[in-house]
Amino acid sequence: MQNFIYHNPTKVVFGKGSIGKLASQLPKGKVMLLYGGGSIKNNGIYDQVTEQLKGLDWCEFSGIEPNPEFSTLMQAVEKIKTENVDYLLPVGGGSVIDGTKFIAAAAHFNGDPWDILAGGAAVESALPIGCILTLPATGTETNAAAVVNRKELGKKLSFISDHVRPQFAVLDPEVTYSLPERQLANGIVDAYVHVMEQYLTYPVNATVQDRFAEGLLQNLIDLGPKVLQSSDYDVRANLMWNATQALSGLIGVGVPQDWSTHMIGHELTALHNLDHAVTLAIVLPRLMHHQKEQKRQKLLQYAERVWNLSTYDEDSAIELAIEKTELFFQQMGVKTRLKEHGIDDDVADNVAKNLTNNGYLALGERQDITPEHAREIVMASM
Ligand code: NZQ
Ligand code: ZN
Repeated sequence: MQNFIYHNPTKVVFGKGSIGKLASQLPKGKVMLLYGGGSIKNNGIYDQVTEQLKGLDWCEFSGIEPNPEFSTLMQAVEKIKTENVDYLLPVGGGSVIDGTKFIAAAAHFNGDPWDILAGGAAVESALPIGCILTLPATGTETNAAAVVNRKELGKKLSFISDHVRPQFAVLDPEVTYSLPERQLANGIVDAYVHVMEQYLTYPVNATVQDRFAEGLLQNLIDLGPKVLQSSDYDVRANLMWNATQALSGLIGVGVPQDWSTHMIGHELTALHNLDHAVTLAIVLPRLMHHQKEQKRQKLLQYAERVWNLSTYDEDSAIELAIEKTELFFQQMGVKTRLKEHGIDDDVADNVAKNLTNNGYLALGERQDITPEHAREIVMASM
C-alpha cells in the first residue's frame, strides 16, 4: 500500500427527515440558498429547507444548470458580493453543489476566477459550504472536487481544493423519490465508474481498499435493478450511502488511480452535451479493452471477485467481465455507444484535439494514455 494522509471532515447528517435538522447545522451570518432548475420547488424540498431558514438572514440564487455554466456561476459571485453573504447552502445534485464550490472559491479569488479551472491557480480560501444532496451519484457532497462547464469555449474543467469541501452534507434518501429514472440510472453508473477508477489499476496489496471497492461494486449491481423498479426506502438509503462512499476519498487512499474515463467523458460532454454518466458508460468498456494488458491483474481480480468468473480461463474471464460491465449499464437503460446518440466519427479526433489543448497528454495510472489512445478508445466506442 502507498503512503497517505486521510482527512475527511464533512459531517454527514443521514436519514429520513434529516432536512429537519438543517437549522442546527447552520452557523450565524447571512446564508445564500443555491439551487438548479426548480425541481426542489416541485418536490417539496424547497419548502422543507426554507422552513429551516425562518428567522435567519438569507437570500437565494437559482438556475444553476446541469453541467454548471461558468457564466451563471459568475452571476452568483456578483450577488454574493452585493448581498454580503457569509455561508453557501446548495440544494441539488452534483451540478448545483459543484457550481457552488466554484462560486465559493471565486468569491474569494483575486484575479480572473477562470484561472482556478484553466490555469491551475491555487485556491487559498473560500466561502464555507453546507449542502443538501438531492441526487445520489457524484460523491461531491463529501469531497473536495468540482467540475465546471464553459460552453463558448467547449471546455469542461475541474479543480480540487479542501477549502470547498462541504462542512456538512444532509443526506435524506426520501429526496430521491422524485428523481426520474434517467437520473437514478445516471447516478448508479456514475458511482460504479468512480469505484472502478480507483480500483482497476494495478495491485499494491491494499486489501482494505480492494475489498471495500469490490463490496461497493457488488452492492451497486444488486441495487441497480431494484432502484429502477421500486421506491423502497432501504434501497434508496443504501444507494445514497454507496454513491457517497464511492467518491468520499476513502477507497482511493494508498492506491493508484486512473481518471481517464472521466477525462475523456468530460470532453464528450463539452462537445456534445451528453449527461456525465452517459459518457462514462460509453468510454469505460472500451477503455478496459484498450488497457487489457496494463490492467490484466486487476481485471482478473475484478472478474473473479465482482462477477464470480473464476471457472473461466483468464482471457475469457476478462472478456466476460468487460461484457457484463457494459450489460449492467445497458440494463440501467444507459446507452453505451456514441452512434446511439447520433454522434459521428469526427468526435474521436475532436476529443483527442481538446485533450491536447487542455494539456491532458498523459492519463491513466501509469500516465501512458495519450490523446491518440483516447482517440482510439472513442473510435471503438462508436
Ligand atoms: O436543476 P434541478 O432542478 O436541480 O434538476 C436536476 C437536473 O435537471 C435533477 N434533479 C436533481 N435532484 C432531483 C432532480 N430531479 C428530481 N428530483 C430530485 N431529487 O437532475 C438533473 C441532473 O442534475 P445534476 O446535478 O446535473 O446531476 P448529477 O448529480 O449527476 O451531477 C452531474 C455533475 O457533477 C459532475 C459532473 O461532471 C456533472 O457536471 N461531477 C462531479 C464530481 C465531483 N465533484 O466529485 C465527480 C463526478 O465524476 C462528476 O464529474
Ligand atoms: Zn463521475
